[in-house]
Formats: sequence, structure tokens, C-alpha cells
Amino acid sequence: MASSLTKGAASQETPASRSDKTLFGHPRGLAFLFLTEMWERFSYYGMRALLVVYLIAGGPDAKPGSQGGGLAMPEASSLAIYSVYVAMVYLLAMPGGWFGDRVWGPRKTVAIAASVIMAGHLILALPGKPSFFAGLAVVAIGSGLLKSNISTMVGHLYDGPEDPRRDGGFTLFYIGINMGGLAAPLVIGTVGQKVNWHLGFAIAAMGMALGLVIFLLGTRNLDPKSSQVPTPLTAAERNMWLKKGLVWLAVAAVFYGIVIGSGVFTVNWALVPIALLGLFVPVSVLTRIKRDKELTHSEQTKVSGYIFFFIAAAVFWMIFDQAGSTMSLFAEKKTTDNIAGFNFPSTWFQSVNSAWVVVLAPVFAALWLNLGRRNREPGTAVKFANAMLFAGLSFAVFAIAMAMASDGTKVSPMWLIMIYMLQTVGELCLSPVGLSLTTKMAPQKYASQMMGVWFLATTAGDCTTALLKTAGVNLNGTGVILGEAVVAAAAGAAIWAYRKRIATLMGDVH
Ligand code: PHE
Repeated sequence: MASSLTKGAASQETPASRSDKTLFGHPRGLAFLFLTEMWERFSYYGMRALLVVYLIAGGPDAKPGSQGGGLAMPEASSLAIYSVYVAMVYLLAMPGGWFGDRVWGPRKTVAIAASVIMAGHLILALPGKPSFFAGLAVVAIGSGLLKSNISTMVGHLYDGPEDPRRDGGFTLFYIGINMGGLAAPLVIGTVGQKVNWHLGFAIAAMGMALGLVIFLLGTRNLDPKSSQVPTPLTAAERNMWLKKGLVWLAVAAVFYGIVIGSGVFTVNWALVPIALLGLFVPVSVLTRIKRDKELTHSEQTKVSGYIFFFIAAAVFWMIFDQAGSTMSLFAEKKTTDNIAGFNFPSTWFQSVNSAWVVVLAPVFAALWLNLGRRNREPGTAVKFANAMLFAGLSFAVFAIAMAMASDGTKVSPMWLIMIYMLQTVGELCLSPVGLSLTTKMAPQKYASQMMGVWFLATTAGDCTTALLKTAGVNLNGTGVILGEAVVAAAAGAAIWAYRKRIATLMGDVH
């Protein structure tokens, strides 16, 4: 291993030769991207673990005896705010990718994004409602800018899609994401929930600051491609976008001016239009790509096949992302918060998914490799179908636990631990596969935008949850949870049944 640390021409320290050096067989730059994303996710998941509990804290829906000092909002709006916020992070990954491609290049975009995220968490560290919503918006913008560009840079470290180390690199990167996700609720959750909410948010800012410093120290090890702007924006295009942006800003300002001026404004006036936008954008982006006359016939067929996967992924993330909302409230109010006499804050449950990923990701990587060697690795459609079935199963188990808790008894932590395990198995069948599928099925013309399109599936799923919530559906109801389980399982079964047809649409991609 030591020799691989020094592989490459050490004497010429150009960026290209530095990136030739390897670390355990992987390009050195991976270590820096791994650590940057780990700290970014630490701040993201730490704040996310606090979000819903902070929104209801001190109000009528808070757990009796819990720490006050939150925004005292009703549970229903809190759940909708959470879903819209998470949806926006992934919606903004699309313009984030665009900035990387056309304005700053991925490297500069990530440096700016990390600073924006840090600023957002610092704003959250200030008490008060206005600063809270402003901070939330700033974090969402920064995360959107960062997420797709950092993944793109991981890809740059390898010699194209055929590099045999590439999948392993992405698996390691995914483990980094989840090491951040694992530590965050334990640190930020505990401090926020037990000591002071705003101190928790301040720690999130510190985490991001650390990530930023690591990133800046490591930029020399990145591929030179990461600093280039692949297709720079022309001056005419810049003016056009500026004009468009200003017009929409003016429309929004006038609209909200009227709504607020006439005194009818409630939080739903903000949530519903954003949630509708979160459904409209994915649908219109996919339709635009599919109808593009410049695509070849085979590219068009692939886009049709991709739509199946996209819908499946949206249903999957709809269930999965309730980890920080419906399931977080279940942890807070209906689950015992001690194991063998040891008491812990309910936000700790937010670590469980990441812990399972760290444990199970290597197992899955080995499993696919092993099955692959014997030519028995399941195709993408079958993996997706499995993911949906596991998501469905997790919510079937959740419905049982919810029913058991309906008379006021608190259930064992084992229920949530099991639910998260089932979801993690689903995640590992879908998430890494989906990312590589997206890059492979992308028409040439849309190659760089497709990473953002993949994240839109999460947006669509989360916005569906937000709209259900604002329409008054009780997401904590056993019936609704069971309904979602059935939808996921049925969608999984449909993909399974049509796997051959989908494979034909996929052409040479498997
Ligand atoms: N834990 C993953 C992450 O934060 C979950 C995820 C993957 C979310 C892909 C959206 C899209 O990166």
C-alpha cells in the first residue's frame, strides 16, 4: 500500500501529476472530497435532525416536558416546512450544476457553496423566526450549489466511466456522506435538543467551516477539469437570465405584497406554491428532454425508460425522506428513549440510517461484485424493484409500530432501528445505482444536467409529502402509512413485472 501512496512522478508538482498520486489505489483528491462532503453532510443532517423538533418546541404539539425555546408551530405546518425545505435543497442542485457548468466551474462553485452553507447555519444560530427562515433558505441555496458539483468532481478523478476504480470511489464517497450523517445527530442533535437549539446550529456552521478549510487545502489534488467552466455563459445569455430572474422576482414580490398586504398570509401561502413548483419542474424538465427533436431515436427510447426509474425513485424518496419528519416525531413522542437504562435524546434516531449504510455498504459492494463474477448480478430494474419493495416493507412495519403506540404506550427503539434497516437496504439498491444509471442513460446533449435531474426525483417525492400535509392528510395516521407502503410495493411489483420491457428501452445500458 505504501508504494501506491507515492505512485506517479513526485518531482513535477503540477496539478495533473499530483492527482496521479494515489491513496489506497484511489486518486488523492478523493480524500479531500470525502472529508468536505462528510462535514457538509454533518452540518446538513445535524440541522435536519433538529428541524421539526425545533419548529414545534414550546408549542401545543411539543412533547410535554421537552425543552422550549422553539418556534411553537403546529405539527402539521412543521412537517410541511420540513418537506419543502428538503425538496428545495435537491431542486436547487439543478441550478447548482448549471453554475458549475456555465459560470464558476465545479471547484469554485463548491468553495462558494460551502461558505454560503456556513453563513446559513450562522444565521440559524441567531434566535427568532425571521432569521430562522432566512437561514433555512440560505442553507438550501448553498447545499443545492454544492451537492451536484462535488459528485461531478468525484467523477473527474477517474479515467471516464470505464475506470474500474470508479464505482469503488463512489462507494467510499457515499460512506463519507454517511459518516457525517452518523455523527451529526449525536453531536448537533444532543447539544441542540438538550442544551440550546442555537448552539446546535452554530456547531453545524463550525462543521461546514472545517469542511471548507479541508476543501481549500486539497484543491491542488483535484483534477484540472474541476476548475474549468465547460460551456461558459455568453454575455447575451447572462443578460437574458438576469432579466428572466428579475421578472420572476418582481412577480413574486407583487404577489406576496398583495397577499401579505391584505392580511390573509399564512405559512401555506409560501409552502403550497413552492411545493407545486417542486412537482412542476421535474415534470417539465423530463418532458422537455423527451420531446427534444435533436435526440437520436435510441436516446429518446432511453429517456422513456429513464422515466420509469425516475417515478420509482420519487416514490422511494417520498418514504425515505420522512426520516426527519414523520419518523422523527414518532421517535420524539412514541418511542422509549432509553436502552437498558441509558437515556438518549430522540434526535439520535436520525443517526440510525447512516449507521446502517456504513455497516451495509461494503456488504452490498461485495455482494454485487460476487454475483457479478458469477454473471448473476441483478439488472438495474430488479434492483429498483427491490428498493421499492423494501421501502414498502419498512412502512408496513412502521404502520404496525404506529398502531401499537396508538393507545399512548411507547414502543421499543428496536422498531425504528428495524424500519431504518429495511430502508437502508432499499437505499443501497437504488441510490448508487440510480446515480450511475442517470449518467449512462443521459442523452449526449444533456450529459452534465442529468445529475441535477436525478436529484429532482427527491424533490418530487418530498413535494408530494408536503402537498399531502398541506391538504390536511394525517401523515402520522396508520392508514396513510399503510397506504404509502402499498403504493411503494405496488410500484416495485410493476417494475419487476415490466423489467424485460424496461430493459429493452434501456438499450445497451444494464
Ligand atoms: N444520504 C444521502 C445523501 O445525503 C441520501 C441521498 C442520496 C439523498 C441521493 C438524495 C439523493 O447524499
